[in-house]
Amino acid sequence: MKVCCRAPGKTIWFGEHFVVKGMPAIASSVDLYVRTRVEPNKNGKIRFWSKSLEKGFVYGEKEPDKELLPFKRILDLIREEHGELPGMKITIDSDIPISYGLGSSAASSISFAAAVLKYIGVEPSPEHVRRLSLEAEKIVHGRPSGIDTAISLRGGFIYYRGPEDIKPLNARWSNEYTLLVIGTGVTRSTGLVVKKVLERYERFPNIMGKIYEAASEITMTAKELMIEGDWIRIGELMNINHGLLVSIGVAIPETERIIHNSLRLGAIGAKISGAGMGGIVIVLVKKKDKEAVVDGITSFSNEIIEVEPGVAGLECRVEE
Ligand code: MEV
Repeated sequence: MKVCCRAPGKTIWFGEHFVVKGMPAIASSVDLYVRTRVEPNKNGKIRFWSKSLEKGFVYGEKEPDKELLPFKRILDLIREEHGELPGMKITIDSDIPISYGLGSSAASSISFAAAVLKYIGVEPSPEHVRRLSLEAEKIVHGRPSGIDTAISLRGGFIYYRGPEDIKPLNARWSNEYTLLVIGTGVTRSTGLVVKKVLERYERFPNIMGKIYEAASEITMTAKELMIEGDWIRIGELMNINHGLLVSIGVAIPETERIIHNSLRLGAIGAKISGAGMGGIVIVLVKKKDKEAVVDGITSFSNEIIEVEPGVAGLECRVEE
């Protein structure tokens, strides 16, 4: 028997960073995936291989490299819950660039946890997978809000205000528009960027508190506009949200050049998505203006991906 699970990446439309301190945020899945395949291993060992990292480990033998520790952590937890595990070959493959703000680590741990659970005969319930993935995320991020895990599991668009307040958002996405994900070419650790922002909060709690309140207002307004399908005003709110991200200190010249030029060339909204300090920028643009925007920003980025927002979340299939 073989098990294959795939989990999508994500983009945060509103509220990244602010969500870490309990403010609401809006995220959608995107059609970039991490896939985990589990199949039998006759020699009884658990062998893991990451195609994108070109690294692996044999569980229980020497300690894996740092980037692979989240996967070992999930195996440890599953073993604690369900006893000794059978031999298996686990392979993970990803379309999602790492350390970029597209939720690659959450999608990896979700597809991994779900595939291993299913292989050992435990139906992977969303709550179970979420819990395992969040433990793995803690190794990577230190203090994750849980939004990346929630959106990759559920898919679609979600409103998120902590793990107890997650609502699917019936966003009326329109084919008149498209969403571009643009890489800055700068990778960074989400955990470190989050720490830096929280330190600024500690230094100026009164000022930062007001910025966080404004961010919350933006998200609440955007939520209604998404249901109405008013993407022009959503674009404007993305621009305002980006201004707040600049003020909390997560913009760098690479993000600003892409955003400024996208807007100049006709995009409706453009902002950092995810932790910032590099990573990705998302650009909302009318399809008719897409070519002009893409042509004009190729000198600032050679990683421009057109994505479909709101695709299905975690999916698994079994091959006999
Ligand atoms: C990372 O995708 C989004 C942040 O808000 C961190 C988090 O929510 O855990 C920057």
